[in-house]
Amino acid sequence: MKVLITGGAGFIGLHFVEKLLKEKIDVVIIDNLSSGIKERIPKSAAFYKANIEDLTIENIFAIEKPDYVVHLAAQVSVPVSMKNPLADCLANIAGTVNLLQNCVKYNVKKFIFASSAAVYGEPAYLPIDEDHPQHPISFYSLSKQTSEQYIKLYTKHFGLNHSILRFANVYGLGQNSHGEAGVISIFLHSIFEQIPPIIYGGEQTRDFVYVKDVADGVYCALHNGSNHTFNISTNTETKINELLTLMVKKVNTNLTPVIKPQRIGDIAQSRLDNTKALTELHWVPRYSLDRGLQETIDIYQQELIKARPKKNGDG
Ligand SMILES: NC(=O)c1ccc[n+]([C@@H]2O[C@H](COP(=O)([O-])OP(=O)(O)OC[C@H]3O[C@@H](n4cnc5c(N)ncnc54)[C@H](O)[C@@H]3O)[C@@H](O)[C@H]2O)c1
Repeated sequence: MKVLITGGAGFIGLHFVEKLLKEKIDVVIIDNLSSGIKERIPKSAAFYKANIEDLTIENIFAIEKPDYVVHLAAQVSVPVSMKNPLADCLANIAGTVNLLQNCVKYNVKKFIFASSAAVYGEPAYLPIDEDHPQHPISFYSLSKQTSEQYIKLYTKHFGLNHSILRFANVYGLGQNSHGEAGVISIFLHSIFEQIPPIIYGGEQTRDFVYVKDVADGVYCALHNGSNHTFNISTNTETKINELLTLMVKKVNTNLTPVIKPQRIGDIAQSRLDNTKALTELHWVPRYSLDRGLQETIDIYQQELIKARPKKNGDG
């Protein structure tokens, strides 16, 4: 079995690649390295530096003939999508259509798409289930919603199987602070640099899901839940204030945050119902926020120690 992963050099991609390699599955990665990191790609994965918008990616499909395609590559920044809607549209919509065309042409068994909780917009009720109305606020969320519609029509007209996974706020090791939901990595960076973290508002809630659980969810979608859409989330709300308190306590520091007004367009509350993923994808998330944060902080700390220049007499 061979799985082609777009965005496989990114945050979620690398965790998913690691999971596949552990299961002895052949991995092919397409990534343009716009934010992905080549050095982190395992040697046993085939890697193509390529842009998903480029028509020449057909050559990769012709050579590799993947059984499954997991589409994670995206322009992930909401502010960038607002500044440059065309670039967002080309990467997120045209890039997806380019992949879908090749999936049909090369008889891919299933297309798994990384969508986002952002498609729902301001919640009308909590927890948000998959049938919740969709009111995208940004061009990023519109590009995810539009891609979902393309995927469903490819299933209808060309019989391409799919699963659409709407991720909540993913966190864990390897996340950069520029993405869609980098609040935990931003706080982590501030805490370890001893820079007072900035909180915009603080009373807003988010549903934080650990990246290893997300990788497991994507893995479950290879064989389950065909032609359905799933929230990949914890069904738990955490206030940003509480999150920071928990992180500061875990690192045992006494930094006081800088409180700024809540940003315009920031959603007040978010919690996504994950019942459908648990029952139909047979996904079993294993990490509470407490456990996921502890693991993230522990590894982050170990990596900082390793990266620190050795003083005379050390080791
Ligand atoms: N991180 C989250 O909390 C979150 C939440 C909801 C949805 N998502 C979605 O999950 C997916 C993965 O997100 P992530 O957090 O790992 O982001 P990431 O930025 O770490 O990874 C994206 C990867 O895609 C690559 N890429 C970007 N544009 C490309 C292009 N045109 N061609 C080829 N490669 C390209 C980047 O180099 C990067 O390696 C994205 O589709 C994102 O929208 C993420």
